[in-house]
Amino acid sequence: MTAKQMHFDREPANPASAPVLLQVDGVGKSFGGVRANADVSFGLHAGELLALIGPNGAGKSTLFNMINGQLRPDTGSIIFDGTDITGRSPRAIWRLGIGRTFQVAQPFQSMTTIENVQTALLSRDRRLFNIVSRVSDYAREEALALLDLVQLADQADRPCSAMAYGDIKRLELAVALAHRPRLLLMDEPTAGMAPRERIDLMALTRDLVQRLGTAVLFTEHSMDVVFGYADRIIVLARGHIIADDTPAAIRENQLVAQVYLGSGAALGQDLDAGRDIDLDRHREIS
Ligand SMILES: Nc1ncnc2c1ncn2[C@@H]1O[C@H](COP(=O)(O)OP(=O)(O)OP(=O)(O)O)[C@@H](O)[C@H]1O
Ligand SMILES: [Mg+2]
Repeated sequence: MTAKQMHFDREPANPASAPVLLQVDGVGKSFGGVRANADVSFGLHAGELLALIGPNGAGKSTLFNMINGQLRPDTGSIIFDGTDITGRSPRAIWRLGIGRTFQVAQPFQSMTTIENVQTALLSRDRRLFNIVSRVSDYAREEALALLDLVQLADQADRPCSAMAYGDIKRLELAVALAHRPRLLLMDEPTAGMAPRERIDLMALTRDLVQRLGTAVLFTEHSMDVVFGYADRIIVLARGHIIADDTPAAIRENQLVAQVYLGSGAALGQDLDAGRDIDLDRHREIS
């Protein structure tokens, strides 16, 4: 069975005119005295590739973990496709159609590539291992079609322990897509990868999500990836959203430049440059 036969191909989305899929409204989260997120509000459209950037410690992962249910917000609400998911469990949120990949990919090393995808399909279908004699018998065709989407069909029967890291990241994408999420959260998807591999993974991700009509919210420290692939960019600094705009407008945004340009480097260089900004001072001048 090919991807096309499985109806993976949809009309390409036009994110700007698509309905709002995720609405984050006034979300806040503190850890002791640290305000990791403060009054964070934004909307994400169906089919959109939205990048969330900001210096280390800006609050990006905290925001992700509130959307995927691992953390409960102190304030505000998160609405997904009309359903209030604020404070719901990770499992419930996953069931509603929000998938995720991990910063460090973690497949089952003892399984083959395809068995990892079959395990994800089992989970999606709520089957228990003990009613299926072997994982490797379950939905093999569908698992192969998913591997085909991420160009890993030829490695279906290889043990994961023998795979290159770039291939494992693509496998992770297939696993995340197994339950057909309408929103995929990717926290630093290209961390630990070589520059060429990063571009390849994001090109594949964009191609796939356009075909599937999936929205993506991703964080990323590589500006090549962000400016090359995002439809829109949100900039977080010290827990506050300081900009929400197109890549072209973000490039011209003075406040964003100040956050990143502490060292005078061009936007697109190491984001750690913005670590010590005085956000309150920037607010006054903006
Ligand atoms: N579980 C926690 N307990 C205490 N403080 C936390 C916790 N998680 C995050 N923080 C703090 O909240 C702030 C935001 O952290 P967060 O991990 O969300 O930033 P980030 O933007 O993802 O950074 P990075 O780019 O380094 O991944 C930081 O000051 C961090 O130390
Ligand atoms: Mg983080």
